[in-house]
Amino acid sequence: MDHEVIVIGGGPGGYVCAIRCAQLGLRTALVEKAALGGTCLNWGCIPTKALYSATKLIDRASTAHEMGIAYASPTVDLARLAEWKSQVVTTLVEGIATLLDKNGVELHVAEGRLDGPGRVALSTGETMSAGRIVLASGSSPIEIPGFSFDDPRVWSSDDALALTEIPDRLVVIGGGVIGLEIASIYNRLGSSVTVLELLPEILSVVDLDRRTIAALKRFLKQQGIDVRTETAAQSIETENGEASVRTADEASIPADRVLLAVGRRSNTAGLGLETVGIEPNRRGFLPVDGALRCSAEGVYAIGDLAPGPMLAHKASAEGLALAEGFANGRMRPIDYEGIPQAIFTDPEIASAGLSERAAKEAGREVLVSRFPYAVLGKALGMREPDGFFQVVADASDHRLLGVQIIGADASELISEAAVAIENHLPVEAIADAIHPHPTLPEGLKEAAEGALGRAIHVVNR
Ligand code: NAI
Repeated sequence: MDHEVIVIGGGPGGYVCAIRCAQLGLRTALVEKAALGGTCLNWGCIPTKALYSATKLIDRASTAHEMGIAYASPTVDLARLAEWKSQVVTTLVEGIATLLDKNGVELHVAEGRLDGPGRVALSTGETMSAGRIVLASGSSPIEIPGFSFDDPRVWSSDDALALTEIPDRLVVIGGGVIGLEIASIYNRLGSSVTVLELLPEILSVVDLDRRTIAALKRFLKQQGIDVRTETAAQSIETENGEASVRTADEASIPADRVLLAVGRRSNTAGLGLETVGIEPNRRGFLPVDGALRCSAEGVYAIGDLAPGPMLAHKASAEGLALAEGFANGRMRPIDYEGIPQAIFTDPEIASAGLSERAAKEAGREVLVSRFPYAVLGKALGMREPDGFFQVVADASDHRLLGVQIIGADASELISEAAVAIENHLPVEAIADAIHPHPTLPEGLKEAAEGALGRAIHVVNR
C-alpha cells in the first residue's frame, strides 16, 4: 500500500477528513477533480451567505428611515457583487490548499475511482493504493420531468449563484432550503418571486414545528414572495416569446427564469463502486454502519454520500470522527439527532435537536416555551423584532431536547443550544447560566426559564 488513507472528494467532508488524518500521522492523499471546498464553498453555503449578507444591506438601507437615517435608493452593480462573492470563495479555497500542504496531505487534481479492493485509479492514469479509502464525492441537484438544466431558461442553484442577471420574474420550483434561500436573495435584488411547492408545506424535509413554518410564511408574504403549496410544476412553455411554468392544476405562471431546487442526489456514478461490490440504496445513498463503513472492506462513505441530512457540518463531523477512528482504532459516535441546521431565509431559521412534534411522536412528555424577539431589548435596538425562540425539554428530567429559533441571527444563536443538546444537559444549564445583557442569546435563556415556569419578561403560563 502506498498510502494509509485515500480520500476521494475535497468538500467539507473530504478535505477536513484528509487534514485530520494527516495531523494524526497517517499518510494521506486527497483526490479532487474540480475545486477544493466542494459544493458548499464554491456553489453553495459560502456564496449564498455572501449574497445573503450583501442583499440584506439593500433591505436595511431601504427601511433605515424608520430610525431617522435615510439613504438614496440602493443600486446594484451585479458584476461587482459577483466579483466580490468570488473573492470570498477564492480566499477560502486558497486557504484550504495551504492547509492541505502545511499538514502534509498529498493533493491529486484528478477524478478518482475505486479500482478493486484497496485501489484508486486517477483520470491522470496513475493508480494508488491504501488500506482505507474514504468516499466523499458529495451530491448534485436533480431534475424532474418537464425541466432540464440544459434549457437556458432553467437555473440550477449554481446558475442562480453565478449572478448573471436579475430576472424580472423568477419562479422557484421547490419550497425546500435551497429554493427559499435563493428566493430571498433574488427578492431582495428586485425580482418578483413565486415559489411552487408540491407538498402541503414548505421546508417539509426539515424537522420544524408548524408555528415556525407559519411564521416564516407570514414573513415571506410580507416581503412579497408568493409561496404556493400543493402546486406541482409540470413543464415550462414558451408562447409569443414569453416563458411560463405550467402546473398540474393548469395554472400558467410567467417566468423569465426558473430555479429548479427539488432536491439533490449523491454523486455515486463513476466512483467504481461495482469494482468492490457496493450498491447505493433506493434513495441513492451508500449504506454505512455506525462506523461509516460501506459493505466493502476498507471503504468508507461520508457527507452527502452517506444517509442523513445533506449538511456541510454533518460531513465535516463525519470526516473528523472517521480520521480519529482510523488513528485510535475506535470511532467516536456521532449524535445525528442533535445536528443543528441554519436556514438563511429572512428572517433566519435555526434548529437543533427535536421539534415539539417529533419529541411528542417519540413518546416524550415535554415542556415547551417560546420567547418573542419583540420584547428583547437588543432585538428592538437592532430593529429586528420578528420571530421567537422555542425550547422543548423533557418534562421528567428537564433534558433539553430541541430548540428552534426564527429571527435575526438565528444561525449564530443556535450553537449554544447545540452544545447543550449534544451534551444531554438539562434546560437549567441555559436558564441558570448568566448571559450578558443586552444580547440576543438572552432570548434563549428566557425561553429556557419559561420552560421552567420562571421567565421574567413574558407572563408565565
Ligand atoms: P429539499 O429536499 O430541501 O427541497 C425540495 C423541495 O422540492 C421539496 O419540498 C419537494 O417537495 C419539492 N418538490 C419536488 N418536486 C416538485 C415539483 N414538481 N413541484 C414543486 N415542488 C417540488 O431540496 P433542496 O432545497 O434542493 O436542498 C437539497 C439539500 O441541500 C437538502 O438536504 C438541504 O437540507 C441541503 N441544503 C441545506 C442548506 C442549509 O442548511 N442552509 C442550504 C442548501 C442546501
